[in-house]
Amino acid sequence: MKAVARAHPNIALVKYWGKRDLALNLPAAGSLSMTLAPLHTETRVTFDEALGEDQIEMNGVEVLEGPKKARVIAFLDGIRAMAKLDAFARVVTDNNFPTAAGLASSASGFAALALAATHAAGLELSPTDLSILARQGSGSAARSIFGGFAEMLSGTLTDGSDCHARQVAPEGHWDLRCLVAITAEGEKSLGSTDGMLETMKTSSYYKEWLHTVPPDLEEAHRAIDARDFEHLTAIAERSCLRMHASAIAADPGILYWNPATVRLIHTVRHARRDGGNLFFTIDAGPHVKVFCPAAECDAVETLLRQTEGVYEVLVTRPGPGAHLVT
Ligand code: PMV
Repeated sequence: MKAVARAHPNIALVKYWGKRDLALNLPAAGSLSMTLAPLHTETRVTFDEALGEDQIEMNGVEVLEGPKKARVIAFLDGIRAMAKLDAFARVVTDNNFPTAAGLASSASGFAALALAATHAAGLELSPTDLSILARQGSGSAARSIFGGFAEMLSGTLTDGSDCHARQVAPEGHWDLRCLVAITAEGEKSLGSTDGMLETMKTSSYYKEWLHTVPPDLEEAHRAIDARDFEHLTAIAERSCLRMHASAIAADPGILYWNPATVRLIHTVRHARRDGGNLFFTIDAGPHVKVFCPAAECDAVETLLRQTEGVYEVLVTRPGPGAHLVT
């Protein structure tokens, strides 16, 4: 009735932005990401007949109420129904990186919770079924079930049973680094779900954005297979900028960037003109993730640390999928 699992966050190279079904949390299009080590969430789940309610501790703090707790309880309810289990659970979860600041802690969080809670409930799910389950907590969490490079399939079925991630290449395939330049403290202002919904409702660029995704996915497969950094640079930057363009064109416009975000975009492009191999991507927050080959990591780290407005730089590499910890 007890299990501990670890999962890593991931960063999308071809972005997910928009849903085809809100209740089932089905994405409107596919996406493709790299799973990031050594950042991780570690989650312990214990189902206990003696508990009178679900208890959730996040990063050392007991979560007594609010939307975060409700989201975890709804997720546990799904697992209890699958396992035909009545007991409440104690969930203790810790991130070794800053939470809720556009670093996709919901991805590693729901991937770790899916694996730990199903295992504690006595269920043995395949990676595909775990990915379907994790998706119900957070779309990007479906990708964190897999290591290396993972693609999310949007699927076509209304029940979401074909809407899961799959591995594109294992973590040993390409020795890239992803440096996370943190440009703000505290939680982001508008969560990704609200940002997506506003974009879908009010942005005249939303439909155009969706059309760009399938060809970018196809090209990203080829670039990753061939370890073609220049090609991946072009795909990842345009996917990121078009996703943000669709949000910026919402009414009122949604702008996740701060001055340091913009400064970093220019810094990266400038360094590339000077011969460096590096590109940026940005999620629903102000931080900038910069990819480069392992050999250029030290130089890129120095460059990012020298940029005004950067608080911290985290160096990451391709990581494994969600796994149990004994
Ligand atoms: O999984 P969610 O609902 O937190 O949405 C993630 C959205 C982005 O991070 C902006 C893009 C992505 O594909 O991860």
